[in-house]
Amino acid sequence: MKKKITIIGAGNVGATAAHWALVRKLGNIVLLDVMEGVPQGKALDLWQSGPLDSYPGSIIGSNDYADSANSDVVIISAGLARKPGMSRDDLLAKNVAIVKSCAEEAVKHSPDCFMIVVTNPIDAMVHTAFKVSGLPKERIIGMAGVLDSARYRTFLAEAIGVAPADVNALVMGIHGDKMLPMVRLANVSGVPITELLSEEKIAEVVKRTQMGGIEIVNHLKTGSAFYTPGLAAVEMAEAVLTDSKRVMPCATCLDGEFGISGYFLGVPVVLGDKGVERILEFSLTEEEKTALEQSVEAVSAQMEATGL
Ligand code: 2OP
Repeated sequence: MKKKITIIGAGNVGATAAHWALVRKLGNIVLLDVMEGVPQGKALDLWQSGPLDSYPGSIIGSNDYADSANSDVVIISAGLARKPGMSRDDLLAKNVAIVKSCAEEAVKHSPDCFMIVVTNPIDAMVHTAFKVSGLPKERIIGMAGVLDSARYRTFLAEAIGVAPADVNALVMGIHGDKMLPMVRLANVSGVPITELLSEEKIAEVVKRTQMGGIEIVNHLKTGSAFYTPGLAAVEMAEAVLTDSKRVMPCATCLDGEFGISGYFLGVPVVLGDKGVERILEFSLTEEEKTALEQSVEAVSAQMEATGL
C-alpha cells in the first residue's frame, strides 16, 4: 500500500519538499494551500515530470483538507517567511494562528499521522502544533537541526577541504542564534575537527552556521531558504516512512533528557515507523550545558508568546 504524504503550504519550502518527496519516491503526495490555484498549478507541473524521472506515485494540489485524509506524514510549512532585518521570533504572532489551524485541520483528517513542522519560529510552532493536535510527542517533531547540521557540515567541509558527506557534525538546541553547533563531537570520518582546524577557524564556522539563515535572507531579500529546508523535511519523513532508524537532530519534546522537560528542542533522535523511537542522550560538558540552557530560555520565551 502506497504511503501518503500531505504538505501544507505550497510556497517555496512546501513545493520544494513536494519535489524531493517525488524524487525520493515516498508515496502519493497532496500539496495543500489556502491559495486557490497555487497548489494545483505546482502539483500539475511536478506531476508532468513523472515520465522524465519515472515517478510511480501520484501528486495532487488542493485547497481542501479532505483530500489529505489518512496521510501517513503531514509536513506543515505554511506561514510567513522572514525578510531582511527580521528575526524568526518576529514571525511568531502571525504564524501561531496559521500553524494552529493547519495542525487542527490536518489531524482531523489524519489522526494517526506523523507531523513535521517547518514553519518558523520552529521550536514554538512545533509546540503549538503539539498542543492543538493532541498527537503523542513521539508523532510530532520540528525540522531545524537537519538543516542547521547540513550547513555546519558544509562550512566545515569547505574549511577543511573534504567532501561534505564525510563530515559528521551535530547542531543542537533552538533553531535560532543560540543554536549549538557541537564542536567536541564534529569529525571527518572519525578525525576530530579540533585536529584539523584552528580555534579561530572553528569559531568562524560556528558563527556562520548560527547565522546561516539570515545570510540567505539578506541575499534573497524577499524570503528565506527553501531548497535545503525542503529536503531536510523529506529526509525526516523518509526515515519514518521506511522505518530506517536513522539518527537526525530534530526538535522533539524532551521529558528529562539532557536535564530538560516540557520543551521542544533540537537533539539527536532515532526515527522509525513509530516516529521518535529514542532520544540519543549523552553527557555534556559544563560549557555545553550552559549553552543548551540558553536555548531553553529562548524557547521558553517563544512558547510563552504563543499563549498555549
Ligand atoms: C533557515 O534557517 C528558514 O529558518 C530557516 O533558513
